[in-house]
Amino acid sequence: MKIAILGTGVVGRALAQGWLRAGHEVVIGSRQPEEARLRAELKGLPVAGLASAVADAPVVVNATPGTASVELLHSVGADALAGKVLLDVAVGFTEDGSLSHLGESLGEEIQRTFPRTRVVKTLCTIDRKLMIAPDSVQGPSTLFLSGEDAEAKRTVAGLLGDLGWSDDSLLDLGGIATARGQEHYSLLFIGIAQALGSYGFGIRVVEEAA
Ligand SMILES: NC(=O)c1ccc[n+]([C@@H]2O[C@H](COP(=O)([O-])OP(=O)(O)OC[C@H]3O[C@@H](n4cnc5c(N)ncnc54)[C@H](OP(=O)(O)O)[C@@H]3O)[C@@H](O)[C@H]2O)c1
Repeated sequence: MKIAILGTGVVGRALAQGWLRAGHEVVIGSRQPEEARLRAELKGLPVAGLASAVADAPVVVNATPGTASVELLHSVGADALAGKVLLDVAVGFTEDGSLSHLGESLGEEIQRTFPRTRVVKTLCTIDRKLMIAPDSVQGPSTLFLSGEDAEAKRTVAGLLGDLGWSDDSLLDLGGIATARGQEHYSLLFIGIAQALGSYGFGIRVVEEAA
């Protein structure tokens, strides 16, 4: 499957490596795809302009700063994104480290702004290294999905499986409004990382014993 990843940062690069390893066709979309420094940093990962990356890709990944995502997606265009699955990993932070989306989440804002695109929020509750190496922590972690479209969530679950996430590690929270919880968890994520002195951890939801 062709996957277009918007954003050439550490998350975009990690996910590109993970899905290339799994045999997918991946292209990273950049605002400045010809920049020599970027090309050197990407070390051969395929990069293209935003419009060209998205063309013919049924799945688009938003790996851009959450404060800039909607504007960037506008520059790609609602028509170009129509009908596609948009896997949204982004979280918006202000300069003082607060969340930019305190009421409506970024995932909801994207879904409301691009109603013909099927948004699925996931992966934003873990560090980029764990995204593509779920077995790198001691024991299984839980990964969450939020979105309105069941088929889009199945597509995303399959792509997460290709990164090594087993079906029983995925927890479907429901509609896109549940992205609020995923995004707000980022604050606790940072607190846990500071307490542990490491980003290399997952969390697991455990149920009441029978
Ligand atoms: N770092 C993590 O482990 C982690 C974990 C979970 C979630 N997240 C979320 O995932 C998203 C990506 O994280 P990241 O650490 O890869 O971010 P990053 O290093 O800041 O990279 C984001 C990329 O987005 C592109 N971009 C588009 N519009 C932009 C703008 N106005 N200003 C700056 N960059 C812009 C840039 O690529 P071009 O210049 O090539 O266009 C940039 O390299 C963020 O929303 C973050 O909160 C990160």
